[in-house]
Amino acid sequence: MYKTLLTSLENNVLTITINRPDKLNALNAEVFHDLKNILEKIEKNPEIKSVIITGAGPKAFVAGADISEFSDYSKEQAIAMAKRGQDIFLKIERCNKPIIAAVNGFALGGGCELSMACHFRIASENAKFGQPEVNLGLIPGYGGTQRLVQLIGKGRALELLISGNMIDANTALQYGLVNYVVKQEELLTKARAILETINSKAPLAVAACITTTNAVYDETTNGFDLEIKEFGNCFATEDMKEGTAAFLEKRKANFKGK
Ligand code: COA
Repeated sequence: MYKTLLTSLENNVLTITINRPDKLNALNAEVFHDLKNILEKIEKNPEIKSVIITGAGPKAFVAGADISEFSDYSKEQAIAMAKRGQDIFLKIERCNKPIIAAVNGFALGGGCELSMACHFRIASENAKFGQPEVNLGLIPGYGGTQRLVQLIGKGRALELLISGNMIDANTALQYGLVNYVVKQEELLTKARAILETINSKAPLAVAACITTTNAVYDETTNGFDLEIKEFGNCFATEDMKEGTAAFLEKRKANFKGK
């Protein structure tokens, strides 16, 4: 169904594997085309409660945008390419279902940016993160200059951006870029275990957490006002009635996403 993605749906968790291992899963036009399509399906399919994005093979999550595709681009083509990437990564960030990155190796350039557009990241011990675009006479174009600052602070972000240096998984953990570092063979198990917990919560409340935390970085929205609105909206859901009733009745809540 997808030329560049492998997918599997198990226990309401969709695993998307970017599948170009011979090119270290570099993001070309086909990958973006496939990602755009699958994001639309994720939003519509009630069987999917949450998503893992990972890379094929033991070496790379994604080693960046496909350099062979854009080396002769004009300024206008480059602007269109950055816009396409930003639009799709924004859809990931704004998806109302949790999307986490399971970073199984190199996450460089567009790969680091893809992982940062996800709601949070888990890394295997061999993971390496970096924005090496300056080595190519470039800067990140898929939101990297913005999200890296949001996630690790300006000083650390600027050092990575202007040196082109990579950091290892443990440094990424120390910087707060990833939430956990695990052995490579345990990466997907860990990601699925976390999502199993999240999937047992009220889906509309989970979605509202994503929307309100995104508002922190959205200058057009007052996050505190949005929080009040979303808090109120929860009281109009069946799941809020179920959650509070289950607590008072000392039983497990059975959420329906309504
Ligand atoms: N775009 C296109 N192809 C890429 C790629 C990218 N971003 N990253 C890796 N590849 C390809 C290589 O060209 C090579 O293809 P080939 O076998 O047809 O020659 C293949 O993937 C394997 O990569 P290779 O460089 O041989 O692996 P390595 O282990 O020696 O080095 C990296 C790994 C990640 C350090 C190195 O591939 C690299 O620096 N990649 C580019 C990273 C980058 O600058 N990303 C930002 C792009 S804007």
